[in-house]
Amino acid sequence: APGAQLFIPPKADTLDALRAAAADCRGCELYQDASQTVFGRGDESARVVLVGEQPGDMEDQKGLPFVGPAGRLLRQAVDDAGLDPGHIYLTNAVKHFRFELRGKRRIHQTPDRVHIVACRPWLVAEFAKLNPEVVVVLGATAAKALLGPAFRVTKQRGELLPWPDAAQYPEHFKRVPVDSAGRVADAPQARLLATIHPSAVLRADNRDVAYEGLVADLTVAARALA
Ligand code: URA
Ligand code: SF4
Repeated sequence: APGAQLFIPPKADTLDALRAAAADCRGCELYQDASQTVFGRGDESARVVLVGEQPGDMEDQKGLPFVGPAGRLLRQAVDDAGLDPGHIYLTNAVKHFRFELRGKRRIHQTPDRVHIVACRPWLVAEFAKLNPEVVVVLGATAAKALLGPAFRVTKQRGELLPWPDAAQYPEHFKRVPVDSAGRVADAPQARLLATIHPSAVLRADNRDVAYEGLVADLTVAARALA
């Protein structure tokens, strides 16, 4: 896959400009079967940005992220965690719906590493226009996009992590000086927190327990806001 980088206009200076350019992305083969690119949306000055996996069936049809059942559950969880669902920005690691046709049904397929890597330039470009204090990655795909393929959500969910190298440093992020512990110079102030995907809550045997876990992790993000 050539990657999304080729399709990002160097002069795209707003999220709207990026969104318009992403509509024509052919950075990997997923544009071929999906209906449209689903770019991020929400409050551009949000202190919390949430990153999902990829659009689902409904998102693919509407062209907006998190408009289906997982999105409804996510907004409820955000609210229950004490965050304002009206002041978040929502996006996905991969911006086209990957699916398999079974009869007339389109069955979700997890994106491969090649899709995650091809699409990551859009995510990094979005971060460069946002200025979040906490970026929440929802599920393994989003976590691997920013924390690398070895990251395990089950082991490190709910922990506030420093902004990782793998996520690259968007130029404009607020910077903090190196601290006495010798932390990476010039690291963005934004921190990252991994949790489960809202779809995993919908599929869980014990939905209540899974939901409470999601809310607990999001509460850590809410309390981290300065
Ligand atoms: N699941 C996701 O990861 N993203 C969406 O936009 C919808 C469902
Ligand atoms: Fe481009 Fe991402 Fe769509 Fe692939 S999934 S075509 S990289 S927008």
